[in-house]
Amino acid sequence: MQRRELLRHLSLTAAAVAWQQLFAPAVRAQASTQHDWRETAEVFTLGVASGEPRPTSVVLWTRLAPKPTQPDGGMPAQSVPVQWEVATDARFANVVRADVGLADPARAHSIHVDVSDLQPGCEYFYRFQAAGQTSPVGRTRTAPDPLEATPRLRVALASCQHYEAGHFSVHRDIAASDVDLVLFVGDYIYETELPGPLRVRQHSHVFPDDPANFTLSDYRLHHAAYRQDADLRASHAAHPWLMVWDDHDVLNDYAGDSEPDHKLDAAQFVKLRAAAYQAYFEHLPISPSRAPVGGRMLMHERYEWGQLAEFWTVDTRQFRAAHVCKGWRGPSNGRMLFNCPEVLQPERSMLGQDQEFWLADGLASSTRAWKLIVQSTQVSPSGLKSPMGRLLYGDGWDAFPAARERLMAAIAQPRVPDVVCLGGDVHRHVAANLRLNPADPTSPIIASEIVTSSITSRGLSELLTQWMKAANPDLLHARSDERGFVLLDISPSQLCCEFRATAHPVRADSRLHTQARYVIDRGVPGLRRAR
Ligand SMILES: [Fe+2]
Repeated sequence: MQRRELLRHLSLTAAAVAWQQLFAPAVRAQASTQHDWRETAEVFTLGVASGEPRPTSVVLWTRLAPKPTQPDGGMPAQSVPVQWEVATDARFANVVRADVGLADPARAHSIHVDVSDLQPGCEYFYRFQAAGQTSPVGRTRTAPDPLEATPRLRVALASCQHYEAGHFSVHRDIAASDVDLVLFVGDYIYETELPGPLRVRQHSHVFPDDPANFTLSDYRLHHAAYRQDADLRASHAAHPWLMVWDDHDVLNDYAGDSEPDHKLDAAQFVKLRAAAYQAYFEHLPISPSRAPVGGRMLMHERYEWGQLAEFWTVDTRQFRAAHVCKGWRGPSNGRMLFNCPEVLQPERSMLGQDQEFWLADGLASSTRAWKLIVQSTQVSPSGLKSPMGRLLYGDGWDAFPAARERLMAAIAQPRVPDVVCLGGDVHRHVAANLRLNPADPTSPIIASEIVTSSITSRGLSELLTQWMKAANPDLLHARSDERGFVLLDISPSQLCCEFRATAHPVRADSRLHTQARYVIDRGVPGLRRAR
């Protein structure tokens, strides 16, 4: 053993001894006064997760919940020490980082560790210990050195997992896939119930009928219910995740400080949103530096992957302008608009002005090969021609044309090459070309778009989707009849996109197939079909 390694090993051993001396008496004292949470069969019922990989750091997560169907998770109302370890091998023979954190009842006994001083571009394994129990082992990795000429990046892009709409067989496929990273772009939970005939399985927790009565406990119970799914836990344990949220993580179709049905006043809605953000943070591998403060939470961030790629995780919900025009609630349960000139108002923003500037600055200054904008929904037009006029999906970019034009202008002037928008929300696989003026077929193609279908949530009828595709020629591929995820295989010369899909997510044992493949050649905006 090298001297440096020996010193490292000794300091880790010392940390473990200090942990025992420091916390063991406290744990014993708790055990004598509290109920029997330490004697339950399993405290790590919600699994483990990692996220936000950077060159020398990654975030680790778990939550202690011996009784996940109880609002307090079956934990006492006091802090509990949790030990964590990071190793270079799955057997933990070579532990490189270890310490103890406190799981606090104010955060539902979750732990978020921002582990630093790791090596760039390396695979790591991690686990937690509490109450004499050891968690399942998670696998994660760090991003490559920012100056490195990274040859390859593989990504799984996923979204929209209504628990009641099907089994998470798509997550089983993601867990088994050889990817560096999972990008999850929203609707991690659904606050809505499905009607009986559409329900494949049932949420173990149900929200109150009136959103005015939604509480932090409701959101905690709902997140804990989703994590009862073994395939979802496996997907988290297998790969680091980068995430953005969407509406159902809080309330269907919400926008900024308001909800579209105007049943709640701003103060009521902001209180509800704060509860949802808090529970979202508590259950996901998000840096503790981004913990909610005052009911707000920082979502938009920038990540790099060597010289190969740069990601911007973009928040399309927290700073979004309120809905305009009374719409028709269509089959997608979104808000369909027609003849609504208010959507043209130039000040309407999907991201808010500060985030728009931040993204435009980032794109303009990036020197990395691929610029990936990670956001929740479809950027390219998807309106339908109808006898009443053009029908728009009022919850998507079609209802924010001025903001979309500003985004396209940020890509085109000065020209930022090799930009790809990644999205979800619409429950269909989409490959689309993005034009400087999205509504003009003579306008130049300046970027590309890839949208993932859902893990389980149902999409539009395929008939309607093909009608939409015919009305929007920049949609090269659009299929809403299958669920799935997108596998991205990125090299310095190409970005390859494989639409993974299954027609039968209602079956726990369903298998995925390849629906289609598309390629983007570096330096050539737009997609082409690959065989
Ligand atoms: Fe969704």
